[in-house]
Amino acid sequence: MSASEGTYPVRKLSIDFAAKSNRYWFKNRPFETHWFNALSFGIVPAERFAISCIKDSLPLVQEETLKAEARAFIGQESTHSFLHAKCNAELERQGYRFFLHRYCEWRLSKAHWLSRLSGLALTACWEHITAIICEHTLSRFDIFKDAEDPFCALWTWHSAEELEHKCLAHDLYVGTAGGYPLKIGWLLYGTALFVTDFATQTAHNMYRDGRLFDPRVWLGCLRYFFGRQGLFWFAFPRWLAFMHPRFHPGDVDNRALSAFALEQLKTRLKVVGPPAASHGAAD
Ligand SMILES: [Fe+2]
Ligand SMILES: [Fe+2]
Repeated sequence: MSASEGTYPVRKLSIDFAAKSNRYWFKNRPFETHWFNALSFGIVPAERFAISCIKDSLPLVQEETLKAEARAFIGQESTHSFLHAKCNAELERQGYRFFLHRYCEWRLSKAHWLSRLSGLALTACWEHITAIICEHTLSRFDIFKDAEDPFCALWTWHSAEELEHKCLAHDLYVGTAGGYPLKIGWLLYGTALFVTDFATQTAHNMYRDGRLFDPRVWLGCLRYFFGRQGLFWFAFPRWLAFMHPRFHPGDVDNRALSAFALEQLKTRLKVVGPPAASHGAAD
């Protein structure tokens, strides 16, 4: 049996974005700060898209456990979007702006052109990419733990929950008869969108900060992606694994990592929704 991530409740995180924090909250590293801030801006429309795709697929789902997990997924993603919107308001107060806002809204307005299966396939691909970044972040917790609140808590909680529900969109896609060629097509397209969106928004954050041409920030970029434990080296084999015809997100068991991250926040988390039933999709 491959590891399904099992049950996952909806949790509320106690967090205060008015709390004073360093402008470069990621250990005083401008690049990492701008990168995560770019992710925060883009997450809100991306999660709206994911929620609508999962909701659309619910009438096709027969299995009760999968339906329960889908509802828990919607609850978790809605809570993430709610807190990231608050985080983004704080970033705007600091002078940043979601440069891709209108472009993302335009894309969302055309999302109804996609078939249900295409929407699910794209969601499964983005969930996979998100899970890779979350696994990378939490597996380097020795570095991340010294990032400042409230941002450190936000990303620790969000990363843990992304790993918990990382199988759901893929399970729904396979469970509603989604095929291999369509999935791979959306992986390539979804990856191209992901890279261009977040590269653009990160560069825009650097521009708003007056450091777009600062070589020290670009050195930070090289270190984050291509240094020892860099994201690129971590992500590429995991991204390629998605292309294997028998790939399942639960093949990599992240339950211990997710539980460890949630343990760091246990005094600040409150379960607000029922846990989904356990589901071993890759038995
Ligand atoms: Fe999320
Ligand atoms: Fe997610």
